[in-house]
Amino acid sequence: VPPLNPAISPLAWMLGTWVSEPGGKGEFPTITPFNYKEEAVISHAGQPMLNFTFCSSNPDTGKALHRECGFIRINSGTNQVAFICAENIGVVEIEEGEVDGEQLTLMSRSLSRISFAKEPHVQQVCRMFCLTAEGKLEQTVSMATSTQALAPHLHVTYRKLSS
Ligand code: HEM
Repeated sequence: VPPLNPAISPLAWMLGTWVSEPGGKGEFPTITPFNYKEEAVISHAGQPMLNFTFCSSNPDTGKALHRECGFIRINSGTNQVAFICAENIGVVEIEEGEVDGEQLTLMSRSLSRISFAKEPHVQQVCRMFCLTAEGKLEQTVSMATSTQALAPHLHVTYRKLSS
């Protein structure tokens, strides 16, 4: 791996291959709460951006569920961050926000979907990543849909498998 591009050093705490531990928890006012497993790979190729894939699965059967992949960019010399993401549910989003120490807070700025995406349609996503005192990565996601105001959807903590 080439050396870390200094532009993304404020995000270096996110790098690694991570696996949910304990398992992720999902909820939303309109659905039955669920548990999930997720592997997060956050890497770089020497460019001024992070590359990521998040692959979730059913913790009992291993069946693949939600997947997303994309890039995390920083406006060099600032704490302004963009999270560019494609999801297998037929949604692409751009989220923007700020990195503050080992915490990244994001909100969707634009969101687009395929013409035959399943309803209800997600309208807004708010996301937070942080590194805990024990060196675990934590992610929380809230969303608003065409039928439901902003409410929590996901909470997951990951253990680092490798750098
Ligand atoms: C349901 C969006 C990530 C599992 C939903 C719904 C939406 C949605 C719009 C429908 C809610 C409703 O029926 O009112 C998203 C978005 C995500 C995301 C935008 C990422 C930013 C995940 C992840 C998992 C997951 C990582 C992990 C397994 C589920 C499940 C349901 C659901 C199990 C319920 C499905 C059903 O009852 O038909 N999600 N989701 N989602 N989501 Fe997510």
